Amino acid sequence: MTSKPVLLIKFLLLISVASVILNMKRRVLALLLSIAWLACKAPKKTSVESITIDPYQFNIQKKILCENGAVVSAHPLASKIGVEILKKGGNAIDAAIATQLALAVVYPQAGNLGGGGFMVARLANGKLLALDYREIAPLHADRDMYLDEKGNVQPGKSVNGHLASGVPGTVAGLFASSKYGKLSFKTLIQPAINMAEKGFALTEREAQSLNNIQNELRTYNKVMPVFVKETWKAGDTLIQTDLANTLKRIRDLGEKGFYEGETARLMIEEMQRGGGIITPQDLKDYQAKYREPHVFDYKGYEIVGMPMPSSGGLLLHQMMKMIEDKNIATMGFETPASVQLMAEVERRAFADRAEYLGDADFYKVPAKILVSPGYLQQRMKDYVAGVAGSSKMIRPGEIQKESEQTTHLSVIDKEGNAVAVTTTLNDSYGSKTVVAGAGFFLNDEMDDFSAKPGTPNLYGAIGGEANAIAPGKRMLSSMTPTIVLKNNKPYLVLGTPGGTTIPTSVFQTLVDILEFKMGVEDAVYKPKFHHQWLPDTLDIEYGFPENVGTALQQMGYAIRQRGEIGRTEVIKILPDGKFESVADNRGDDDAEGW
Ligand code: GLY
Repeated sequence: MTSKPVLLIKFLLLISVASVILNMKRRVLALLLSIAWLACKAPKKTSVESITIDPYQFNIQKKILCENGAVVSAHPLASKIGVEILKKGGNAIDAAIATQLALAVVYPQAGNLGGGGFMVARLANGKLLALDYREIAPLHADRDMYLDEKGNVQPGKSVNGHLASGVPGTVAGLFASSKYGKLSFKTLIQPAINMAEKGFALTEREAQSLNNIQNELRTYNKVMPVFVKETWKAGDTLIQTDLANTLKRIRDLGEKGFYEGETARLMIEEMQRGGGIITPQDLKDYQAKYREPHVFDYKGYEIVGMPMPSSGGLLLHQMMKMIEDKNIATMGFETPASVQLMAEVERRAFADRAEYLGDADFYKVPAKILVSPGYLQQRMKDYVAGVAGSSKMIRPGEIQKESEQTTHLSVIDKEGNAVAVTTTLNDSYGSKTVVAGAGFFLNDEMDDFSAKPGTPNLYGAIGGEANAIAPGKRMLSSMTPTIVLKNNKPYLVLGTPGGTTIPTSVFQTLVDILEFKMGVEDAVYKPKFHHQWLPDTLDIEYGFPENVGTALQQMGYAIRQRGEIGRTEVIKILPDGKFESVADNRGDDDAEGW
């Protein structure tokens, strides 16, 4: 097949020769050259007939072994749509886009148009991608915008309501990623439009989740959204007409259908209703950015993660490297020894996060130093096996100057394109504010900034100058979409929601599979734990072995039992090329494939 650049050169030569022979007018020549340029530049996208799935009768499948492609996401309807896209000739990027759009309809607590996310991908040709569509602080944002006159953080202001929202990035991200897809955007968005317009059946868990936020919906919306109802129950149909119209504007007008025109007008109107500060300029200026993926080696595996403004890739790198020489495999899974080592590693990584990490476009993040072997060795100098460290003593490393709702999906196709996407509204249902007339929740991502140095955010995480609010800056994230390569081929595609527990959950899943040689299901389902430096507690998930908890307490850890940690979605590529795909059992998460 002749490549586009070669075709272009041939065509230009032909026109030039013709222009000399025919003595063509300059304007005609310019027109022909422009047509030729555009013809070669415009990616050819295929449209296929609309996908039909039954949004009322569906089951939840936790595991599938398949060979042509797989999608694991937080909702069965979204996973099924992703796989249908693969069957229609789409690649993993197409499937990831369609799945995200579907999640924006069927999983309103975290799937979104009004939030942001990250995509890490490894294309079949070996190219690595890291796409940043994180929200940004509006142009009128100010580093002290959540403080009162006394300089104290005003509780809740960065979490609920209009002022909590950063400028949404998801729609820009979907269009930026579609550059690597094969199908037309119209094809990818239509299933989401259909489900928003005609409705779908709520699961038990979703109905319960909507019931839980009725008070907040009434408090943070002046125009009551479609989600407000006396009582939702499993099987109820949720129809979202306003959202369907927003999706149609995106289908018909592209990114401008969201960031300009009617949808933008509705967002600005909503801001004005509730004292928000996002302006038309903020929306118009928003851009998704391709960045250099964060790549490192762990015992021969190549681990590909997200760079700043996600802390995920760097934290994972630090944690994996701090255990690399400790022979953790001999300690065994979830023994006091292995959990203690991992908790200490987590503590140290999160101490560095608080001090040094933030949007690298605004703050000089010492990323190279923080992952250098000498530095990490130094970090573990005061680690004592069998004795709890202390976050008072273990500070961020010395360096030389230089309701947790997010959602993850993992996708692979038969060509070998692998995609890991994590997106978020931050808290469950974001700011709880729905854009009236447009039908989607706005994020409360501003809370991921450090509103005041040393004051914890929603996740109890603290930060400093590196993550201070500034106009146009992206707030630090924990999202950790990750791809692991073995022998230069995709081996694992994974990620999870869970706020600050995201990097630690991905870390534990990787250690379980790579070191303890656990099966994927166990690595996903077994209880997890979490340490984030401050507060100085070791969180253990319900179901964590009691005797191990007691042993850790005896070592000096303050143990705190808590609910679910993460909802991890993993695809493992087996030696015979098949895809073992596992959805977390902590939610309605679902694995589909063919
Ligand atoms: N909002 C959660 C995160 O980005 O880490």
